[in-house]
Amino acid sequence: MAIARENYFWHKLHSLTGVVPIGFYMIQHLLVNSFSIAGPAAYEGVVTFFAGVPWHVLIFLEIFVIALPLTFHAVYGIFITARAENNYFTRKYKWSQNRMYLFQRVTGIIAFFFIIFHVIDTTGRVKLHGHEAISYAAWYEKLTGGYYIMLLIYMIGVLASSYHLAYGLWNFCIRWGITVSQRSQETMQKISLVLFIVVTLLGWVALYGFVRGDHRGGGVRVEQQAQPDSIALARQ
Ligand code: HEM
Ligand code: HEM
Repeated sequence: MAIARENYFWHKLHSLTGVVPIGFYMIQHLLVNSFSIAGPAAYEGVVTFFAGVPWHVLIFLEIFVIALPLTFHAVYGIFITARAENNYFTRKYKWSQNRMYLFQRVTGIIAFFFIIFHVIDTTGRVKLHGHEAISYAAWYEKLTGGYYIMLLIYMIGVLASSYHLAYGLWNFCIRWGITVSQRSQETMQKISLVLFIVVTLLGWVALYGFVRGDHRGGGVRVEQQAQPDSIALARQ
């Protein structure tokens, strides 16, 4: 009984953290990064803004809005998946809805590996090399170099995270008793589909903004940085 209550509490907390704060964080994060579509100057403006936020505010946000909720959600999510706990929707819902639920767990695992890689690749580099590491030019070079492998990794990471959030919301509404009737759940399923498409496009637009290497605004001269050493040497 005590164990069941404990599971119930942690499961509810896991569910809540997926929406608040992580879901909200992800949407604002993709919105902020989509400034790349307006060119280097606009993107550098956002990076400079965050670099200017007082350190105690940043530390508070990083710990309480990102690190703690995300680590708890990720670790407990892996625990739920590894335990292969029976899907309580199995008998109640249609085959397509069960498949959505299975994909939601699979995308959680993909998001897990993507986010670990991504945080090392961004925040990790910022700690080592400063904000230059996430400048527009740095993104352009990273995403377009090496046969576009990094672009592919980021596109998949965005796709998986977006699916996980959109169909997680469908689940969330059932779990918290927000959608009770079959009809309201089917409506929520449609809303999830729209959200999945919109959030995925938002992330992909952010990536496209970097990949097209726009030099407007004179913020960053990508072509100068991309010049091969051999050409530079030949000119000396
Ligand atoms: C278009 C794709 C994305 C781009 C361009 C992008 C860009 C960035 C950048 C520039 C940072 C470093 C911020 C800093 O330390 O100043 C960062 C950190 C981070 N990103 Fe992303 N990101 C993308 C997708 C995602 C997705 C889908 C997630 C999933 C939730 C995510 C979660 C995070 C987290 C948790 C951090 C660490 C935040 C921190 O240390 O405060 N990102 N990202
Ligand atoms: C970091 C790796 C992640 C893992 C391993 C993970 C794992 C999981 C799992 C297994 C579930 C289903 C829980 C259940 O069976 O009841 C779930 C639900 C959910 N996750 Fe994640 N997740 C991760 C990241 C994220 C991110 C980045 C977001 C938001 C952008 C998110 C949002 C949600 C939401 C909204 C739910 C639905 C809550 C519910 O079932 O009521 N998760 N997660």
